[in-house]
Amino acid sequence: MVKLGVLISGTGSNLKAVLDAIDQGRLAAEVAVVISNVPSAKGLEHARARGIPALVIDHKAFDGRAAFDASLVDTLRAHEVDWVVLAGFMRVITPVLLDAFPYRIVNIHPALLPSFPGMHAQKQAFEYGVRIAGCTVHLVDAGTDTGPILAQAAVPVFDSDDASTLSARILAEEHQLLPRVLQWIVEGRVDVERPLGGGRARVRVNVDSR
Ligand code: GAR
Repeated sequence: MVKLGVLISGTGSNLKAVLDAIDQGRLAAEVAVVISNVPSAKGLEHARARGIPALVIDHKAFDGRAAFDASLVDTLRAHEVDWVVLAGFMRVITPVLLDAFPYRIVNIHPALLPSFPGMHAQKQAFEYGVRIAGCTVHLVDAGTDTGPILAQAAVPVFDSDDASTLSARILAEEHQLLPRVLQWIVEGRVDVERPLGGGRARVRVNVDSR
């Protein structure tokens, strides 16, 4: 069974979507550990309710990002994690974590990348005035929300929307997309091609439609 380590910072509704997909047999994986960098993160409860180790590693307790990431790596390795899932994890990660899980870190981002990377992506998109918004699941590389895209889902933006109603519509799609892509990974449908001599990696996702 593929073991996932899920990193969160807040509500954890995407974590819950992953756990529900596992419970319902839509995702053949195990969440081996959940780690939050925020001690009060509500999402930890979704793991604890299922008896899954739910740990706090507070970034504020570390002297710099690399030391924090080294602690994450130690903990993920201690739980024999195969793939790391960033599910609303609001920290920039360093090569310490990237190199420990090369092209094995998945992020969900609430915008159609490469538009609107970074924080408050839904608000950025709303304020720009886009007519189509959405979410992206991608592999993490050294940039901010720049890694190879695995799948995207689009939603309409209505004139009656505000940033909050749009965010809710996007989040509902995130809850569908993230477990689906993780199941593709489990099924071995995701191949990463790294060009010799460096350059941007490409992914092949061997599914009929995405
Ligand atoms: C989600 O919308 C996720 O895409 C976003 O944070 C939210 C977390 O919600 N992530 C980012 O913005 C990462 N840059 P959740 O805690 O309920 O899953």
